[in-house]
Amino acid sequence: MNLKEKILVLDFGSQYTQLIARRVRENKVYSEILPFNFPLDKIKEFAPKGIILSGGPSSVYDKKAPFPDMGIFELGIPVLGICYGMQVMAYCLGGKVAKAVKREYGRSELKIDSTSDLFKGTGKKWQGAKGKGKGTKNTSPLVTRHSSLVTVVWMSHGDRIEQYPSGFKPIARTDNSPVAAIADKKRNFFALQFHPEVVHTVEGNRILKNFLVNICKCRPEWTMKSFIETATQEIKEKTGKSGVVCAISGGVDSAVTAVLINRVVKKQLTCIFVDNGVLRTGEAIKVENTLKKHFRMKIICVDASGRFMRKLKGVADPEKKRKIIGNEFIKVFEEQAKKLKGDAKRPGAKYLAQGTLYPDVIESVSFKGPSATIKSHHNVGGLLKHMKLKLIEPLRELFKDEVRALGRELGMPEEIINRHPFPGPGLAIRIIGEVTEKRCNILRKADAIVLEEIKRAGFYNELWQAFAVLLPVKTVGVMGDERTYENVIAVRAVKSLDGMTADWARLPFDILGIISNRIINEVKGVNRVVYDISSKPPSTIEWE
Ligand code: XMP
Repeated sequence: MNLKEKILVLDFGSQYTQLIARRVRENKVYSEILPFNFPLDKIKEFAPKGIILSGGPSSVYDKKAPFPDMGIFELGIPVLGICYGMQVMAYCLGGKVAKAVKREYGRSELKIDSTSDLFKGTGKKWQGAKGKGKGTKNTSPLVTRHSSLVTVVWMSHGDRIEQYPSGFKPIARTDNSPVAAIADKKRNFFALQFHPEVVHTVEGNRILKNFLVNICKCRPEWTMKSFIETATQEIKEKTGKSGVVCAISGGVDSAVTAVLINRVVKKQLTCIFVDNGVLRTGEAIKVENTLKKHFRMKIICVDASGRFMRKLKGVADPEKKRKIIGNEFIKVFEEQAKKLKGDAKRPGAKYLAQGTLYPDVIESVSFKGPSATIKSHHNVGGLLKHMKLKLIEPLRELFKDEVRALGRELGMPEEIINRHPFPGPGLAIRIIGEVTEKRCNILRKADAIVLEEIKRAGFYNELWQAFAVLLPVKTVGVMGDERTYENVIAVRAVKSLDGMTADWARLPFDILGIISNRIINEVKGVNRVVYDISSKPPSTIEWE
């Protein structure tokens, strides 16, 4: 992104690195995550107004400890080190880091000794020394000496600073960490032993905001409105008069991508929606209606359900199902896109638009490298190779919540913006065992009831996903006076921030009861409903 006010987050491998970048953006300042060893000349080119060094699992004494280019401390811009970022900063600048005997983890009371710009407006007056028994309990021998401001922070660190580098002064401490925050005010270098980015650090957001606004002097300009302006310009320059194709899945990412591109290139864009036969009830119609009628986009809907079902016949292995659906999708899409030869009004396709998001980009450049493939996710890599298309990914700098905000700014209906994610291989990975037309229909009806009741009860927007799964077991039941031997439906509802981890949703029993009753009464072929109470990890969200 070509913006002036931006912050660079150097990634030393912390599980919270993404969170740091998100918190910065929540303060309306653009931020990007780059690996810890990103070359100095490229950092200079990026021209951040400040740098944040993330935490990480290493110790500066490890053989393979990650170190940044020392030149970052010569750039004349503020630097904030967090946790490992603090230790690496202290170590690089001549301080001493002590190897931890024991890790400090969890909630801690931070006593702020210096009202530096970083802590401006944070902390409550500690009452212990004057008004005994009134305020925070005094457990630290240091605190009795003078009154401090106190705030609750979240610690998670091994090593700690034993001697701070010259030019630095301690500005806060906890009972276990006499040096919990240090500052070199002259050079605008700050370092924190705790994590301001996590919600458990009660005033963490204020501390980050202070760093961004008071210290880096960033103006809060990063809004979806400003994003649209910059992205519009970039899409215009990139595509020129060429044609663009976009695969629409019905999910929020591809829909927002298409609407954004459509705003810029209008008639040059053609969207292709492939009905693979494993979609939810009414999915194809809903997508077509919204994009065609609401945004007047050209959208080709292809009913390829027969082809997909034939290929899936007799296949029960989850990975095989995914591969079959992925490959068949590429074939159908390619056939359609090839038909777009172009004419005077609408040019042939040169670009393929894809709704890649920032977390996918970070994953490929992050310190830990791409995580091992647990399930092979659907992607369009094959399309590019086959069709000699160039890729255009206008959302590759955005987090999911920003994509939703962008969709709203673009005037998209809430129904699309707040939709739960739906996997590329669709219902096929929610039908355990063989996928048949009959089993698809059972699952579709059950799934529609789950969603209807969750929406009716007002829980839809609180959940990351809710859906039904058709199990490959039959159980005995009794309906009226007759014995039945029918299928089992599992209901899954999870809460999650990004799909990487998830917790099963504690839905009220009453709602689960209604869902169960309705499914058993209304869906022929089902006589039992169970609720999935597993979290991710160790389970995954989808069953296959
Ligand atoms: P898992 O099952 O891995 O799912 O915990 C995490 C999130 O990813 C979605 N998912 C997919 N999305 N293609 C997609 O586009 C896929 O093949 C795929 N598999 C899983 C899943 O719905 C959940 O939100």
